[in-house]
Amino acid sequence: MISNLASPLPGSGGRAPRAHLHSDAPRQVLDGTWLVRSFPTPRHVTDDDQGIWSPVEVPGHLALQGIGAPIYANVDYPFPMDPPFPPDDNPVHDHRLEFTADADVLAHPSVLRFEGVDGAATVWLNGVELGTLRGSRLTTDFETTGVLRAGANLLLVRLAQWSAHSYLEDQDMWWMPGIFRSVTLLARPRGGIRDVFVHAGYDNGAGTLRIDVDVEDGAAEDDGRDSGAGENGAEVSISVDGLGDFTPGVDHQLPSVRPWSAETPELYAAQVRTPFETVNLRIGFRTVHVENSTLLLNGAPLLFRGVNRHEHDPRKGRAVDLGTARAELLLMKQHNINAVRTSHYPPGAAFLDLADEIGIYLVLENDLETHGFVTEDWHRNPSDDPQWLPAYTDRMRRTVERDKNHPSVLIWSLGNEAGTGANLDATAIWAKQRDPDRLVHYEGDQRSVHVDLYSRMYAMTGEVERIGALADPDEDEHRRSLPFVLCEYAHAMGNGPGGLSEYQELFHTYPRLAGGFIWEWVEHALYEIGGRPVSLYGGDFGERVHDGNFVIDGLVHADRTPGPALADLARVFSPVGLELAPDLSALTVVNRHHALDLAHLAAVAVVDGVSTPIELPPVPAGARVVVPLTPAATNGPVTISLRRRAAGDGCEAGHEVAWVQHVPHRPAPTLTPVPLRLGPAVFDERTGMPVRLGELDLHDVAVSLWRAPTDNDRGTGWEERDLPPVAVRWANARLDDLRTRLIEIAEDGDALVVRTRHGLPVRSAGVAATWRWTTDGTALALDLSLEPYGPWPCDWARAGLDLRVAAPARQVTWTGYGPGPRYPDTGQGARYGTFTASADDFAVRTVRPQEHGAHLVDDALIDLGATSLRVLGTDVSLTVRPWSRATIAATAHDHELPAATETWISLDAATSGVGTASCGQGVLPGYKLTPSPQRLRVILRA
Ligand code: GAL
Repeated sequence: MISNLASPLPGSGGRAPRAHLHSDAPRQVLDGTWLVRSFPTPRHVTDDDQGIWSPVEVPGHLALQGIGAPIYANVDYPFPMDPPFPPDDNPVHDHRLEFTADADVLAHPSVLRFEGVDGAATVWLNGVELGTLRGSRLTTDFETTGVLRAGANLLLVRLAQWSAHSYLEDQDMWWMPGIFRSVTLLARPRGGIRDVFVHAGYDNGAGTLRIDVDVEDGAAEDDGRDSGAGENGAEVSISVDGLGDFTPGVDHQLPSVRPWSAETPELYAAQVRTPFETVNLRIGFRTVHVENSTLLLNGAPLLFRGVNRHEHDPRKGRAVDLGTARAELLLMKQHNINAVRTSHYPPGAAFLDLADEIGIYLVLENDLETHGFVTEDWHRNPSDDPQWLPAYTDRMRRTVERDKNHPSVLIWSLGNEAGTGANLDATAIWAKQRDPDRLVHYEGDQRSVHVDLYSRMYAMTGEVERIGALADPDEDEHRRSLPFVLCEYAHAMGNGPGGLSEYQELFHTYPRLAGGFIWEWVEHALYEIGGRPVSLYGGDFGERVHDGNFVIDGLVHADRTPGPALADLARVFSPVGLELAPDLSALTVVNRHHALDLAHLAAVAVVDGVSTPIELPPVPAGARVVVPLTPAATNGPVTISLRRRAAGDGCEAGHEVAWVQHVPHRPAPTLTPVPLRLGPAVFDERTGMPVRLGELDLHDVAVSLWRAPTDNDRGTGWEERDLPPVAVRWANARLDDLRTRLIEIAEDGDALVVRTRHGLPVRSAGVAATWRWTTDGTALALDLSLEPYGPWPCDWARAGLDLRVAAPARQVTWTGYGPGPRYPDTGQGARYGTFTASADDFAVRTVRPQEHGAHLVDDALIDLGATSLRVLGTDVSLTVRPWSRATIAATAHDHELPAATETWISLDAATSGVGTASCGQGVLPGYKLTPSPQRLRVILRA
């Protein structure tokens, strides 16, 4: 049978948790091809050998290998809330592995380690029950001494998808049972090293070091201060490269050490030895603490430029390999990200080694979330029910013990969205006692009594400003003593997030604000297994309870290709602030590094394609200097760029860390008109609209105020929770269905003037358009004025015109802002220059189709194969796509969009910002497009 699925108690039979150590003791990895058979419910399980066993890869998720299906749900439990009972409909999967034990493992006592098993399992070795596994993302070591034998061994893992512990694992991600991390046999030599706890601090050049060592066989478990001599008398020796030898359990003062930080990830190699085992460690000296409600690292204020990272691979789910994790961390470093919250569970253990070495601060989160209880006002929430206390402390203990030696971990997080309650308080108290050198975080309990940080998610900029200024009347004295972090903000779903700069400015203004963590790093799309790589999300696997594409909300796609927001974030997160005087006579440089000066960066001014070095004076961390410049004689843009002199910190030599640009005012281009002949254009006298330009037929030229709603347009901004999402307001107003009435077509000197009205059905509001067309004989100039009339029921998405041509676009070459798109509240990473992009890249595709890819252009050449269209103007917002907005809005997945046969082009005088209302604040007031007169001046040339 499979035992105790309804028990809220922790798993049984596991050894006391300890650090994952790099040991020279023999080990045998049991990953590879296992066999699996499945039963629909626990009641169907048989203990005989019947059933069809099929091969499965470990580590891996069953649902991604054709056994069962993944389920995506955010808050909701996809089963009845009946704690601690799981539903009857609860597939059970027997996993078996026959293996021959390595002789060198067999020569010692041994343990069997599971690092991640999604679901609840019972484990047998050679018919002997070793115990049960609970806590899907946590390590369990089972004693195997005397059970492991020479010759053939049979390991059986009976895994149920649901158990009482499912109530504690309600993270916003895919439910996917399986043994998704490694399974290993570890020799545990008698007199070897059971556990190590490194305490390494830093203060003003000096270090402190104490290494507690716990020896196998009889050493105490938790006091952390035993002498280091085991019952069998094994002596412990410790040596740290470059620093000497140390006695275990004793506080040592070191007059001179190099500190560890994300900017300078200095690690000292260390060896802890007994005569029976050697463990290799890497020690980082750093001290994190709070003073005057400010977060300090090594005595200096610390700002998190962070992201939330789930473990996700589009084909392997949470079985993320080391190469992928390393590439992710380097990609973060290259984009000025310095911190990760391991939302919402401990990542694979090797991730921590990478974070130490590459230099990323970690908020290491426990595997705990009970969010679904919010649906019933937290009634029966396990966090406040004593029967769950052992599970809470067990989970926290396993989290802390595994990763306690990593300098990158600055903060322990109790879990995510688990309400409030005594069980959480107990885990916080335990963590602080066990590890007084780190801080404790939990967002879900706003009293913040047992934590060291005041944490919130998605708080809006207005409130963050009040918190920063200690002007929030709701805060008591205790909370005011805490630094503030946004453990989640700026929801990177679809087109967005807008408004990053406003948050960052606040972080730079108020020392209490220790920054935050963008939600989230990677999209959790699953690629069709065995088929073409299409991106799937909730509901695509037949789930009856699901949350659609709410899991597609990352800065990078599931395969780690960056979305445009990553370049914007890199600019906003830059550790160097640059400001150019309007007359270009001076450059202000603000060094926002934690400790580094700017000696590693070279500054250069780029004017008309020529680079000239700029000599920067020394700029210590935290300093602001003004550098006089010789103003360049140019009418073009001036770009100042700070680049790495040498490779390092995850970046190549020459990598750009900061930039600023002065883009001069550009008057709208004009044509020298010739008497009205319409030059290369043909107009339709029935509509007044152009139908041909040179060799190019133009179709469906029309005024347009709507866009295909973004994920953010479909959300309700937290500042206006009583209103429907803007997408609904647009739909209610029928903004996508403007009806046109031609008023007149007239000649006015050199111009053809067409007047039209575009009204909302049902209502009396609309816009009056005046189209003033002129030509120089070769091109067509349009001066379009839009004037709103009547009582407008909603803001606009954009203001401009659409047109269609019958050929698919190949690429776009433009002068203007790029390479990424730019909406009023995004595009911080887009600079003025000349760019070329394929039509696909220009359009920016998203997993769920939506408005995206508006680029601000002065001159764009749209390559249509045999023909082309050139658009000239100043800051014209241009989109080029093979589909109409209606098609985009009506399509659920990117791969369902029809193949490109035509091109829809829009030219806008103005667009609305995008905000981050899919979760958080909506479009900030300054970025909304309220109905107002607009003017679009462009020249079109075929
Ligand atoms: C938060 C939650 C995250 C995620 C996010 C929205 O409330 O902690 O796990 O659900 O919202 O994507």
